[in-house]
Amino acid sequence: MDKNDLLPIGEVAARSGVSVPTVRFYEERGLIASVRNAGNHRRYGRHVLRRIAVVRAGQRFGLSLGEIGEALATLPDDHPPTKGDWARLSKVWHAALTARIDALVEVRDGLTGCIGCGCLSMTSCPIYNPEDAHAADGPGAQRWPAAARE
Ligand code: FES
Repeated sequence: MDKNDLLPIGEVAARSGVSVPTVRFYEERGLIASVRNAGNHRRYGRHVLRRIAVVRAGQRFGLSLGEIGEALATLPDDHPPTKGDWARLSKVWHAALTARIDALVEVRDGLTGCIGCGCLSMTSCPIYNPEDAHAADGPGAQRWPAAARE
């Protein structure tokens, strides 16, 4: 990496639209990396700006930092990702978002029957116990810890 291409943390923050503590936080979470200069100050390669843009986009989509980190781990960390890298990553996120949207639509549609009801029935409420998921656990309040049921 060319030493002249390294950016101080303040410039990374200013150019990426996040605060300096946020840049540090992303680094602590392993989403970006820095090197230290002779004065022991953090310096970042320019490609970090794109990685931060990906982190912010992922957060906007509602992805956790863990999910974003998994995606970033598949990208090169010493140079900007290629167009193919981005295409692959966006395809994975598209699938994850579609699954999330489908799950939310299912919850929303189930909620329609619950509005104004409030029964939270173990046998018929699609929100409280979708598809009677606890039936196989036996009779009684299966969502309580075992010790509290005894
Ligand atoms: S709260 Fe009554 S069906 Fe969900």
